[in-house]
Amino acid sequence: MEHIIIDTDPGVDDALAILLAFASPELNVEAVTIVVGNVSLEQGSVNALKLLEFLGVDDVPVAAGAVKPMLRGSRDARSVHGDTGLGEAVLPEPRLRLDSRTAVEVILQKADEYEGELTLIPVGPLTNIAAAVLARPRIVEQLERVVIMGGAFGLTPYGKGNVNSVAEFNIWHDPEAAQVVFDSGVPLTAVGLDVTTDPSNQMSKEMHGEIDGLGTERAGLVADLYRGNVMRRGYASLHDPIAVAAVLAPDIVGVERHRVDVECVSELSRGQTVVKRRFHRPADPEEMNVDVCVSVDGERFLGLVMDRVVRGVS
Ligand code: RIB
Ligand code: CA
Repeated sequence: MEHIIIDTDPGVDDALAILLAFASPELNVEAVTIVVGNVSLEQGSVNALKLLEFLGVDDVPVAAGAVKPMLRGSRDARSVHGDTGLGEAVLPEPRLRLDSRTAVEVILQKADEYEGELTLIPVGPLTNIAAAVLARPRIVEQLERVVIMGGAFGLTPYGKGNVNSVAEFNIWHDPEAAQVVFDSGVPLTAVGLDVTTDPSNQMSKEMHGEIDGLGTERAGLVADLYRGNVMRRGYASLHDPIAVAAVLAPDIVGVERHRVDVECVSELSRGQTVVKRRFHRPADPEEMNVDVCVSVDGERFLGLVMDRVVRGVS
């Protein structure tokens, strides 16, 4: 059993990540913490409460965190996720309420409660995680590990940027926070665009059509979440649920260990996750700080989504 906290900016793919996490018996979701990113903190909080209510979950704290990045202004991604952040999905206003604690307070308290056995799965900007690390640097010894959806590392043909030529949105949104986390010494795995934009891991139009045709409430929610993206592009990268899959089934991904730093100065390449690899002198093993995902078993991952989220079979 993996005790996890999902730190999220829901978000269409965040929603799928949340649905997969709660549908997976290998995982115990201890909390859902909200960060500004795809949508405002307020909207993301409402979306998370709506999703937990849809799942009938009323005993997992949902706690709000950062309302803006550490140093910069926020820029949302509603052009991708829709005005509400949940695509075309319409869920009733939630009766559930936010926890009175902040995201950082919940992360710190759960780190104490599950000393050495808590995994954080940040699938939005890393603002909350950086705040927790700065509030309590020793948390890096308390956590089992941190598995992020974030980065574009140039380690596969798909490792290009999505918010500029070289950066991935979550890192770009708060590059300083990402550098704090990458420097923290926490056991860190990064699921980046190198694998999440690999066509073998994406939802095709055919897959969306199969889901849409099932006619169940769960399938209808997933179809509505992704309808806009799939109709617009002919496919959808699923991003965030791959980070969840990497925790519930670690052998579903292949990783390489690297030294990674974040571009925080240049506006041209803001948020680039720079892998240290000079041709004449590779990074020293002791300076390496991230296990970067370079492969995913796409068939197995999509099977998890279809079985556990769409069909409700775990
Ligand atoms: O670049 C993809 C990431 O940015 C995903 O987490 C998506 O939800 C957005 O936050
Ligand atoms: Ca996200």
